[in-house]
Parts: sequence; structure tokens; C-alpha cells
Amino acid sequence: MPNPTAQNHQITNFSIFFWATSFFIIIFTVIISTLTRSPPPATQMADPALHPETPPYHKTQPLKQIAIDYTPDACTHCSDSNSITLVYDHRGGARWRTTTRFLYGTFSSLIQCPKGNTSGLNFNIYLSSMEGDKSQDEIDFEFLGRDRNLVQTNYYTTGTGNREQIHDLGFDCSDGFHRYVIKWGPDLIEWLIDGKVVRKEEKREGEWFPEKPMYLYASIWDASYIDEGRWTGKYEGCDAPYVCLYKDVHVPAETAIDG
Ligand SMILES: *[C@@H]1O[C@H](CO)[C@@H](O)[C@H](O)[C@H]1NC(C)=O
Repeated sequence: MPNPTAQNHQITNFSIFFWATSFFIIIFTVIISTLTRSPPPATQMADPALHPETPPYHKTQPLKQIAIDYTPDACTHCSDSNSITLVYDHRGGARWRTTTRFLYGTFSSLIQCPKGNTSGLNFNIYLSSMEGDKSQDEIDFEFLGRDRNLVQTNYYTTGTGNREQIHDLGFDCSDGFHRYVIKWGPDLIEWLIDGKVVRKEEKREGEWFPEKPMYLYASIWDASYIDEGRWTGKYEGCDAPYVCLYKDVHVPAETAIDG
């Protein structure tokens, strides 16, 4: 006669073995499926430049080459480090520009403005279809030397501006580098400082909007004769040379127009 106790033990041992094995198989399956879970769909990690809401003309590349319009001695450009220096002193200021025009795109630079008493001076970064032309299209960031906590934005269509706005920076523009960006499209212009949109202009039905291919320009000049010194202040000059630094300059990658 079989030993009932031994049989019970066999049954108990078998069910412990059965349940323990099932338990470990379940745990093992959960761990493996967690470790091998497929990554999120690629669209979630796509390059923002390729996002449908970002038109291709906003793709940028580092600025490689510049032209200097006047006082070449007062402008240095280092292509390798992507930095440009403009100096204002007894020689007058200087102006650089890109070698090609662009039709739309994102233009970006880190800028550290000159130190000392900059009263009277204007330093800037801007787009213009042609500096000196009276029917130019233009989009501006202009610093007013009398107060380095301010920047003026403006835009022109066929020589007509009068759309000045003055923005409080919340910092002294000579205090380290800050990033200034102009995003220009067929229906929208945005001015950004350190990643924040400070001004936005949309094309309105029946109104002119900048549409001529434009160079990127930057200059430093004595603007104290304009509006009897009320715009940039009376020129002081005691802290010359005044040095304006541009770094990590980016221009549109795909919208250059030759000539
Ligand atoms: C800078 O120069 C202007 C013009 O001469 C003067 O009015 C202003 O007080 C000066 N600012 C400082 C901080 O010295």
C-alpha cells in the first residue's frame, strides 16, 4: 500500500515546482520585453529643421566668408573660429557684409557690444537689399550707444521704414555675448534675443513686406548727427577704441542668390 504521506509530499513538491517555474517564466518574460521594447517612433526625435512647420529656408550654416565695405583695417575676420571684430576709433567705424544676398532665411549671431561710454555710436546687425540704395528692403537690430540696455528693431520696404520699436534688453549688451536672430519668411519676420521672440511682424493683405534678396550686414558708426543726438546720444569718444564682437555667425544654408 502506497504511503499516503509520501504521495502527498510528491504532490506538494510538484505543485511548488510548477508554480515557481511559472512565476519565474512570467518575471523573465516581463524583464526581457522591457529591455527589448522598441524605441519611440522616429518622428518624435526628428531634427527640428526637418519638421514640417519649419520651412527649409530656415536651415542655417556657419558664415565662411565676408566682404568689408570700408575701413578694412578696423575689421578682422577669422573664418576658422567664426568670429568678426569691428572697431570704432579715430579712423571712423567699419562695415562687413556677406558676399551673397539671400532670399528669406534665419540669420544669427552672438554679439558682445563695445564697453565704455558708447554715447553717439550705433552698432548693429541687419539685413538690407543694398546699403545706400534709397529703395532698399531692410530688417534691423540696432543698438543705441547712449543706453546699452536698449535695442531698436525696424524694417523697411522699398526705402520706407518708420516701424521702429525699442526693446528693453534686461541686460547691458556689452556684458558678455548674447544671441540675436532674425527669422525672415515670405509672410513673417521674427526678431529673437537669447531664444526669446521680442517682435513678430506678419504680412498683411495689401501691404508691402520685405521681399528683395538681402545681404547680412554689421557696422559701427557715429550716428550722433541724427536727430540732433537724440537717437544714439552725443558722441563722447573717451573710451575709444570701441570694439564690437560677433561670434558663431550663421546664415541660411539654401537661399543664397549670386550677384
Ligand atoms: C557719456 O557721454 C555722454 C555724452 O557726452 C554724457 O552725456 C553721459 O553722461 C556719459 N555717460 C557716462 C556714464 O559718463
